[in-house]
Amino acid sequence: MSLVYTYVILIEKSLGGVIILEKNTIKILNQLKEKEDAVILAHYYVDSEIQEIADYIGDSFFLAQLASKLEDRTIVMAGVYFMGESIKILNPDKNVLLVDKTADCPMAHMITREKIEAMRNKYDDLAVVCYINSTANIKALSDVCVTSSNALKIVENLEEKNIFFIPDGNLARYVAKSVQNKNIIANDGYCPVHNNIDVNELKELKSKFPKAKILAHPECHSDILSLADFIGSTKGIINMAKKDDCQEFIIATEKGISYMLEKECPNKSFYFIDSMICHDMKLNSVSKIIDALESKATEVIVDKSIVDKAKIPLNRMLEMGQ
Ligand code: 13P
Ligand code: SF4
Repeated sequence: MSLVYTYVILIEKSLGGVIILEKNTIKILNQLKEKEDAVILAHYYVDSEIQEIADYIGDSFFLAQLASKLEDRTIVMAGVYFMGESIKILNPDKNVLLVDKTADCPMAHMITREKIEAMRNKYDDLAVVCYINSTANIKALSDVCVTSSNALKIVENLEEKNIFFIPDGNLARYVAKSVQNKNIIANDGYCPVHNNIDVNELKELKSKFPKAKILAHPECHSDILSLADFIGSTKGIINMAKKDDCQEFIIATEKGISYMLEKECPNKSFYFIDSMICHDMKLNSVSKIIDALESKATEVIVDKSIVDKAKIPLNRMLEMGQ
């Protein structure tokens, strides 16, 4: 890292929720973006300082869909590894940079090739439905990808009777509750952030703020979902908070979403569950974006043979999930 960028890191400050990025940081970032013909995409869970400077912020479906429409030569993904990988699979000719290559989603690794093969051997009429929070190798073995915003719609419209839903068991059980006439086999993976919430913490928040509606992400455990007034993706939660007349909400998803909720609904109150922090998402920072654009050391590389196979379920999701 050069001295000038070390200096930039030192002048990034976050004071009492107000983000102050030195003009110099923005100037350097803009110069690098222009030089590399780059655009910055961010997930709602990354720190506010990145959401402040990102060109686009969204849920997993929006980001996957958007990346294919962008004309920029370089895409910087502020999120976790599978997000950069999905963008690369859909746009193999572009330079896709992660902000921090070690930012990974543990759930993405909670399914194996062996488990998929065993299920394919057991059922003739089987679709392997793969949550986008998964590795490229696993996508390459799947029939269709889904995100939390389109899983219900896609599973409902599949011809197969038996569905092996991987890797997230909580999302699988949530889908199974709503979709009729399918045999949904849930894998046993989970998101540690959404699965390990203490239901008593949620109940305490509800008794403290009885008028607040509970908005939950479907990666949460069913004990949490059974208390929710609304279940949806990050974007779905933000839309619901905007359109509902209620003035207070308890949010059962990662705390980084507070930036957009508070921006979109400045007069409403939001209460969060303290433990809901994804430490991988928090590995992203503005100084690392500058580093990534300068060094390209975080470029995402996916084998062509995997790209060719994994793009089929991803493109199928883009068609079916519209
Ligand atoms: P969505 O933004 O698609 O709801 O996904 C949440 C998530 O866990 C991303 O890792
Ligand atoms: Fe993975 Fe959970 Fe973090 Fe999302 S919040 S990236 S599912 S660990």
